[in-house]
Amino acid sequence: MSESPECPQPSQPPQMPQPLQPPQPVTPSRPVTPGSQASFGTYGGRPVSFVRRGTRLQGRRQAAWEEHSDRWAVEVPRHIANTSVHPDYVFDAEAEFGRRAPLIVEIGSGLGDAVCHAAEENPDTDFLAVEVYTPGLANTLIKIKGRGLGNVRVVEANAPEVLATMLPAGSVAELWVFFPDPWHKSRHHKRRLIQPDFAELASRALKPGGIWRIATDWSNYAVHVREVLAGSPDFENLHDGQRSGAESPLTRVWESGVESLVGGAPVKEGRAPVSTGHTGPNEGTDETGGWAPRFDGRVLTSFENKAHDAGRLVFDLSYRRR
Ligand SMILES: C[S@@+](CC[C@H](N)C(=O)[O-])C[C@H]1O[C@@H](n2cnc3c(N)ncnc32)[C@H](O)[C@@H]1O
Repeated sequence: MSESPECPQPSQPPQMPQPLQPPQPVTPSRPVTPGSQASFGTYGGRPVSFVRRGTRLQGRRQAAWEEHSDRWAVEVPRHIANTSVHPDYVFDAEAEFGRRAPLIVEIGSGLGDAVCHAAEENPDTDFLAVEVYTPGLANTLIKIKGRGLGNVRVVEANAPEVLATMLPAGSVAELWVFFPDPWHKSRHHKRRLIQPDFAELASRALKPGGIWRIATDWSNYAVHVREVLAGSPDFENLHDGQRSGAESPLTRVWESGVESLVGGAPVKEGRAPVSTGHTGPNEGTDETGGWAPRFDGRVLTSFENKAHDAGRLVFDLSYRRR
């Protein structure tokens, strides 16, 4: 689908971090490419988890941004880049939404399908969609308008900064990360969004007892997330040990080898397919488990359907903030 978010393709070389340059002047009401975070490359000493392409808006997206961003896009003071949030800025959800309600934050909200569907189903909950893909944010504004949603705001920002300083500590009821960019190659794993330091930021933003839901269609990333969160003292797996052995989707992926099939992985001609050989050391049977059932609050998007069409399984994980 041409509207899909431009998730980095692992077979394309990502932009390498460039030497730091002085911050560019930022026009707050309109996203622009120069000075974008990807051109600075890092945040907190780590490469950012995205490559920013296609920030220019056209047609109905441009019109939607011009018409609705004042109302529904949170305007944040910038720091070192257009996707960066000034560390002094703190989001006031009560002032923004005009009420006190549980706040769900979706990171990497893409075209806004999940967040807008959930907002429609849960009018008593407020939602914040965090994304760096400007056309996706514009699509989200179109959905907010079309469905008359008063309980969704979007922010064009690098997620770690949103969790680190923009959101008050303990202010988030649920955090959602659905289908984060997989960054398949070992040398790109450091770009993966979910890392131990990201888990610390998630823990900071979530209320005690708050829930973190994650989904991915790549077994290697699923194992990575399970390991990162198993190593965090702040989170408890709500499905610890469940769906292990023959019931584990991981066992099924390993047995079927589906991710090593051309068509099942983002393979470019002349390049090696992603193989289950990259999944982890304990291939054979997944004795660990810990997989959640599919989160039924997540609408089935074209993105998830594409994974199913390619024969890939979806891994859900859910954790409670201690
Ligand atoms: C593979 S897409 C999935 C989009 C959506 N969740 C879905 O299921 O269709 C991953 C999204 O995460 C966004 N993303 C990656 N790193 C991010 C970051 N550091 N902050 C905010 N968004 C990010 C990308 O721009 C992209 O739209």
